[in-house]
Amino acid sequence: MKFKNLLFFLLLSIVYNTIHSQNKKDEETLKINKKVDSLLSLMTIEEKVGQMNLYNGFWEVTGPVPKDGSSKKKYEHLKKGLVGAMLSVRGVEQVKAVQKIAVEETRLGIPLIFGFDVIHGYKTLSPIPLAESCSWDLEAIEKSARIAAIEASAAGLNWTFAPMVDISRDPRWGRVMEGAGEDPYLGSKIAAARVKGFQGTDLSAPNTMAATAKHFAAYGFAESGKEYNSADIGTSTLYNIVLPPFKAAVDMDVKAIMNSFNDLNGIPVTASKFLQRDILKEKWGFKGFVVSDWASMQELITWGFAKDKNQAAELASKAGSDMDMEGYIYVEALVDLVKKGIIKASIIDEAASRILNVKFQLGLFEDPYRYCNPKNEKNLIYHKSHQEAALDIAKKSIVLLKNENNILPLKKEGQKIALIGPLANEKNSPLGSWRIASDDNTAISILEGLKQYKNNTIQYEKGVDLYTGNTHFIKELKVNTTDRSGINEAVKIASESDIVIMVLGEHGFQSGEARSRTTLDLPGLQQELLERVFGVNKNIVLILNNGRPLTIPWAAKHIPTIIEAWQLGSQTGNAVAQVIYGDYNPSGKLTMTFPRNVGQIPIYYNQKSTGRPTNENDNVFWSHYSDSEKTPLFPFGHGLSYTTFKYTNLSLDKKAAKINDTITVKVEVTNTGNYDGKEVVQLYIQDVYGKNVRPIKELKGFALVPLRKHESKTVTFTLDKTKLGYFDTEGNYIVEPGEFKIFVGGSSITSLESDFQLVQE
Ligand code: NOJ
Repeated sequence: MKFKNLLFFLLLSIVYNTIHSQNKKDEETLKINKKVDSLLSLMTIEEKVGQMNLYNGFWEVTGPVPKDGSSKKKYEHLKKGLVGAMLSVRGVEQVKAVQKIAVEETRLGIPLIFGFDVIHGYKTLSPIPLAESCSWDLEAIEKSARIAAIEASAAGLNWTFAPMVDISRDPRWGRVMEGAGEDPYLGSKIAAARVKGFQGTDLSAPNTMAATAKHFAAYGFAESGKEYNSADIGTSTLYNIVLPPFKAAVDMDVKAIMNSFNDLNGIPVTASKFLQRDILKEKWGFKGFVVSDWASMQELITWGFAKDKNQAAELASKAGSDMDMEGYIYVEALVDLVKKGIIKASIIDEAASRILNVKFQLGLFEDPYRYCNPKNEKNLIYHKSHQEAALDIAKKSIVLLKNENNILPLKKEGQKIALIGPLANEKNSPLGSWRIASDDNTAISILEGLKQYKNNTIQYEKGVDLYTGNTHFIKELKVNTTDRSGINEAVKIASESDIVIMVLGEHGFQSGEARSRTTLDLPGLQQELLERVFGVNKNIVLILNNGRPLTIPWAAKHIPTIIEAWQLGSQTGNAVAQVIYGDYNPSGKLTMTFPRNVGQIPIYYNQKSTGRPTNENDNVFWSHYSDSEKTPLFPFGHGLSYTTFKYTNLSLDKKAAKINDTITVKVEVTNTGNYDGKEVVQLYIQDVYGKNVRPIKELKGFALVPLRKHESKTVTFTLDKTKLGYFDTEGNYIVEPGEFKIFVGGSSITSLESDFQLVQE
């Protein structure tokens, strides 16, 4: 009885606290709204438009006043209160100096927000986001964003242009490194975790920053994976694949949304009222502000969508773009357009108030220098605990693609190792391409990591260079296709060793923005090096460092052991070494399908069945290729461990469920091997028959399950109408009665299957 009472009071206090904190939040929102309104009433139209203007950093702020034209103009605008935010000004001293101009020299002293591309860390770098997504570990991903925010805010920044939540099925697109892969369900969970990590629970705390979900929308579907290209997709893909991660970010109260460079079905998204006003602001109730991508308003003219600056400003603002990033469109055209009555003043008021609202939430009106504490900058950046967290998520991001004959984990003594490859002793490439604040050459290289295991001997040869020239600049980046002078030496050490570890792939600067590729092979002479070494020693562990899925059919067939180690950031070498030696049992799973060849792209697991799915007995008039297999090289969700897992006893608590019911799915997972390990248990559904054609499989649940050797656990998932429905072609969420299949296993090629009927209430 007593226990029951206790439970009751506990429950009551939880309910009370939830209502109380919601009330407090609502009160706070009301207070801020009032402050915004009264500030707005004091502002001139020019000052309001100023809030909508975002400039890139322009001069060494603490140095002399700039003399060159554009910097001088920015400086003048800043002093007149015609700038609302800055990007790329960073470091306490610089941020303080610019903030001082805004606060002390402008008429109203409205503070600036300071934005920056803090994508996977500030100075301490975590793995690239695609790699992190392979951990499927939402807690670790949130922590990684948290640490990025702690370091960046210690350097004066309070706004990040992350997370990129674009779903993509095209590894030719260099920016897949910046996202969470191909799946909207996992992508949504990760989007929410990253926003939460950056923004924390209190945006006004000096160690949190406003996040930006980008690029709204469909940038991941840029045709043929070509950067800055057009996107042409149907509404089914838009509503079910592209938009859900943005919605998840909005539900997590993301403060900004960045639009993008692409058009969507003929309308450049920067000027898309449908996306920005109808869906984002109205349907979803987004309260933050929309920022353009770099000069994307200006580009409305290049698209041939606006005839001049005035029209570009009119179209973008009417469509709901609130802030112009380095486009000079709003600052030069908007005031006149309002004065002439072409744009309603309410559009400017709305945009300015959205931006001011975030400034209030950041606490900038209470203390504009809140993020400018030199002690924090000194003590928090590169903090030891950040390095530890970066190592933790780096290990979790690694995917063991293949481990024939159980070559790994490697024995810790008595082994003669040949370490070969242009990326084996790289301290720069593992930092990835989005590391603009980091210090060059600060990653632990794989050679450094492996050397810590002192009872084996290592000989190292690069074999070939990946690039000639400066890798920093896209234009100068020339792949080495001629210099083979190091191959013989590499082959020699391979022939003298017990085991060969080869580190091949892409340089960090070969993926990311503006790095689309038409082939996804190992660049340059690396394939040749691999085959030459294989000729003398077949005991090869291939470690891939890359920012996107690669096409490696030869290696997948011949090389016994392959590790996908992406670009893992500051702690790369330590993470890889710990996995190779079994101090960490790999648990990562691919979040993007690996194609066999570029011709298979786009290739993804949640495809539709088609009217003629593959028929094993008749391979002619069925969906297939005549010169390649149809299946991927490595499927979505794939990833091995040093142990093995067995799935049994899949059960559902109902065979017939009503639409409002919850269905409980249980499965037993057993560690059947000889190592403790962790499995990412995945649950997929198929809505067998519907008003719209449904995918053959859709991820709807996953669980990270640690299992000691020989241990079994029952894993429970729940399904309800939030997971069983989909968006029809008009964007309505519908749940249809009928047959559903359930698949559970360790990858999208699952092992167990069951089904149930969904019946009308
Ligand atoms: C262009 C990129 O597309 C965007 O993602 C980035 O945030 C901005 N440049 C600012 O650097």
